Amino acid sequence: MFSEKLNNAPMGYTFDDFLMLPSVSSVEPKDVKTTTQISRNYRINIPIISSAMDTVTEAEMAIALAQEGGLGIIHRNMTINEQINEIKKVKRSGDLTIRDVITISPDASIKEAQEIMDEEEISGLPVVEEGIVVGIISRRDVKPIINSDPQGKVSDIMTEDVVTVSESTTPEEALDIAYENKVERLPVVDDGVIVGILTMRDILERKNFPNASRDGKGRFLVAAATGPFDLERAMALDDAGADIIAIDCAHAHKPSIINFAKTMKDNIDADLIMGNIATSQAAEDLLAAEVDGLKVGIGPGSICTTRIIAGVGVPQLTAISSVADVAKEYEIPVIADGGIRYSGDVAKALAVGADAVMLGSLLAGTHESPGDIVIMNGRKFKQYRGMGSLGAMTGGVGAGTDRYFQEVKGPMKHAKLVPEGVEGVVPYKGPANEILFQLIGGIKASFGYCGAIDIKDMQKKAKFVRITSSGMTESHPHDLTITNESPNYPTTRL
Ligand code: XMP
Repeated sequence: MFSEKLNNAPMGYTFDDFLMLPSVSSVEPKDVKTTTQISRNYRINIPIISSAMDTVTEAEMAIALAQEGGLGIIHRNMTINEQINEIKKVKRSGDLTIRDVITISPDASIKEAQEIMDEEEISGLPVVEEGIVVGIISRRDVKPIINSDPQGKVSDIMTEDVVTVSESTTPEEALDIAYENKVERLPVVDDGVIVGILTMRDILERKNFPNASRDGKGRFLVAAATGPFDLERAMALDDAGADIIAIDCAHAHKPSIINFAKTMKDNIDADLIMGNIATSQAAEDLLAAEVDGLKVGIGPGSICTTRIIAGVGVPQLTAISSVADVAKEYEIPVIADGGIRYSGDVAKALAVGADAVMLGSLLAGTHESPGDIVIMNGRKFKQYRGMGSLGAMTGGVGAGTDRYFQEVKGPMKHAKLVPEGVEGVVPYKGPANEILFQLIGGIKASFGYCGAIDIKDMQKKAKFVRITSSGMTESHPHDLTITNESPNYPTTRL
């Protein structure tokens, strides 16, 4: 009976156990499309999501990801209010319309107008009376008269004929209107009442990010994590504008969590992604809660010790493919979370059914990850730690404790916690967009070799060859000392 447990055990495989077969191909990497569905209602332009970890994703990382077409999940090792603030920072930064508009009254003096513009470092002010835009005044209007008549009224020199736009004006239309009328600022009005302002500079800057992930209002997409039973947080994140809420939990295949997910879904408008799981049965059971996306990975992460401490887990390629087999039938996206080291790993994850990958270590250590650069032996590093590490569970608001089902009564004591993650540093890597550029380039190269034009095509066409450890040794550079580090093949080890 016991020996059968071992004799009948299936094999579990991960990234280094396979390569993909090169195939006849007329696909040029530059033509590959990387758009992907990441939850029931959201598509993004690159299949990359940043981990909800306190050394990976706060607003700065989420903005960097959204600008390039990916998505950041704001971690939850902070108070609800702090997490709401991070969401708002992302939404504000991707919002072309400045909503906290600084205005002036027509009766104010020219000197006052000048002072406000100096203080706020802006070059123009809408003139507003009881919420209604009655004019606009700029530095150019003020300059010729500020010395001769500083106490003159704003209404005497303002431009009365204000060109305005509405909330539904697209950035392209706004740009045309601004050019035609030779204006730099366009107040956004709703029934004459000012609700925001668009500036030419912001519209033009938007053109720098043609691939960005945006919501229906043109703001950046952002996701945020909540605990498996933290409805209060989920509802607050939803109200704050999170597009996707991710239930963040080390083992989501639990009836209590699945039942609670239904309650969460009933109380939020955002899509609900749930994880982590690693088996087809878990996928079946979670999909019964009609969640909008599944997250796969028990223990593959670079900082994870779950498989060692608990002896439990499924090698990541087997886990992804097992969950994807079920999820595809329900047409629900799968996110492969953890264990990705190279762009080739991303391509393999996509080929076995993932719709996107979640990255921790590859994005930790970038300029946009939370935390300061530390210098050790003359080299730059940033902190990276597991959310189940002692540091994460006892720092912040201790999000790791419920992620790993640990109840802490009274003051948190290290000795009372059983960590499932480690703390360390990773080399400082510069801006996240450079990492993303290399990853996407590598994915496109992979698709080119396999003859796949997009992710769906890759899932159909990619064929695998099982390799041995000597096959993998042969795959890495060998028999030389690398003298020039390649941007997509780091050799700086600690
Ligand atoms: P990578 O390999 O990208 O993995 O660094 C990041 C993912 O690892 C998960 N995670 C943990 N897993 N103990 C674990 O067993 C931990 O302390 C821990 N912290 C994060 C998480 O899914 C993340 O996205």
